[in-house]
Amino acid sequence: MSHTMRTNDGWEEAKNLVKERADLVEIVREHVDLKRSGFRYLGSCPFHQEKTPSFTVHPDQQFYHCFGCKASGDVFSFMMEYHQMDFREALKHLAQRYQVELPEKKRSAAEIEQERRRQQMFGLNSKATDFYHDYLLNHQDAAGARAYLAGRGIPLQTQKGYLLGYAPAVERAGWNFLGSRLSEDERSLAIEIGLLVSKEKNRNYDRFRDRILFPIYDSRGRVCGFGGRIVGEGEPKYLNSPESPIYNKSRMLFGLYQQRESIRRRRRAVLVEGNFDLLALVAKGVDLAVAPLGTALTREQLRLLKPLVDDVVLLFDGDEAGLKAAERSVPLFLAEQMSGRVALLPEGHDPDTYINEFGAAGLTKALDAAGPLPEFVLQQFIDRHGLTLDGKFRIIEELRPLVGAAASPVQRDTMVRHFGAVLGIDTDRLAAELVPGNEARPGPPVEAQHPPKTSRQSGLDGALRSIVGFMVKNPNHFERLLDYGIDAVLAGTAGEMICLQLKSLVREKKATTLDPEELFSELPPGEERALVASILTEVSLDDDAQDNGPDTMLEDVLQWLNRQNLKLRSEELMRRIREAEEEQNGTLLKELLQEKMKVDGDLKNG
Ligand code: CTP
Ligand code: MN
Repeated sequence: MSHTMRTNDGWEEAKNLVKERADLVEIVREHVDLKRSGFRYLGSCPFHQEKTPSFTVHPDQQFYHCFGCKASGDVFSFMMEYHQMDFREALKHLAQRYQVELPEKKRSAAEIEQERRRQQMFGLNSKATDFYHDYLLNHQDAAGARAYLAGRGIPLQTQKGYLLGYAPAVERAGWNFLGSRLSEDERSLAIEIGLLVSKEKNRNYDRFRDRILFPIYDSRGRVCGFGGRIVGEGEPKYLNSPESPIYNKSRMLFGLYQQRESIRRRRRAVLVEGNFDLLALVAKGVDLAVAPLGTALTREQLRLLKPLVDDVVLLFDGDEAGLKAAERSVPLFLAEQMSGRVALLPEGHDPDTYINEFGAAGLTKALDAAGPLPEFVLQQFIDRHGLTLDGKFRIIEELRPLVGAAASPVQRDTMVRHFGAVLGIDTDRLAAELVPGNEARPGPPVEAQHPPKTSRQSGLDGALRSIVGFMVKNPNHFERLLDYGIDAVLAGTAGEMICLQLKSLVREKKATTLDPEELFSELPPGEERALVASILTEVSLDDDAQDNGPDTMLEDVLQWLNRQNLKLRSEELMRRIREAEEEQNGTLLKELLQEKMKVDGDLKNG
């Protein structure tokens, strides 16, 4: 029935054949003692430690499920989780075992070459890791670095476990310590991954000089890049590998590779901000920490943790920056439907100083006392704005994006109920404020001085509905729609979740190979899913219109989006103008009025 693009070549077929032939019971049995128990098999879960077996394998449906840690899946996910493989590797493995032929890979010469270079890059990073590590442990010129690490409580064992390194200073080893030890081929790779910095006319020099190095591993244990801290005080404190074909900071977590097993076993991860925080915890035997590499937490990083944990504890400094970081992470947790908690340390402490003063036991106490993230953030808002009438309005404004990020209507309702109770606002009224589609409910406004509301479209009617329809049916145009701010236009409507889900799908796959049915199956049951279902099943006039001229349709949609965004902007400006008036801020008022005139002008002419 699908009138959409076709996915995949022979891979899909091979996957189905493997699924047909492979026997999950047989595969699991190689690693787990299974006993028949009624219509299923029972054994001790290989994914977490347990005393009584709660791992079940269902031969008929060919899936496993653990009642303890909730791990579940099919042959592929078992292979992936148990052997730390990605999907392709699992498929290859099983295909070979069950004699399923895989389609020939049709990679272009350029792709093959690029892959070969990537492998060489990993090789080179590994060589540099060994090189710098050996230097740290053994060279007399690294005595200062060793003393520094010892002074910070990082024992030799941890230095070895993390293969920490030291890059020598220019005064001792010159500008070309690493460079001079590489072949010409290696040097060009080294420039690409940032081990060397290239100057004009083929003259290069070492990026890392007189720094302690932290190798950053990917999930397969390959070194992708390095963090480099100055020894002692100085600027810049950190110098890190640049982004490269093998290094994408926002998709890695320092420490995850090393601590993956203990994180999985405990179903808990602790997120710290600094490399040294992480090592301090490791040194004291707390082996659950991961650290983003100096960037704000990303959704990809959370996804790395998602299959391993039941909750993530944010362990941040008790200062303003720490509070803000916790606040910013809330929408990510909500969108991923992960549970986050926050352990704030006393002012002046970071995890490193805290564990060194209060020990692992002290830290564990702080972790156990960590409260749920959304509640924590609400408390921040209350501290900031107070619970006066005006304060509550401001809090509601701050809550809007949080509630908007909820991954499902149920999650949204739960939040609204909770926030309503804490704020002493009737749940229905708060829902009318925060949950789109609920405004229709008759009754008096929330309070007499209702703050000017930014425009949130209720329900999905007319234009919005056809925009969402277009978006769902044409994933290949999705990036364009994003450029035109479709996410802002859909914020607070049933289209918002669909847009979020599309974003993540498009990020994982090429938009051109994305099938709208995939979107459907990724959405949790609820309003949005029903909407997509009805869009996909309806035979609409739009389809013909698209066959005749998809570009015309696209142009219309983009133009409409543009107008909507101008309208939103104009309303937002109006709101700020009122605020500026109230605060009697003349300068700001003038600026805002000018901008509003411009926006309104565009609206008229557009
Ligand atoms: N960072 C960075 N560049 C900087 C400062 C920090 O990349 N100029 C990153 C590093 O990955 C660092 C993290 O941000 O680990 C957190 O910064 P900070 O708390 O200053 O680092 P620590 O490793 O805790 O360093 P220290 O305790 O030695 O000050
Ligand atoms: Mn620190």
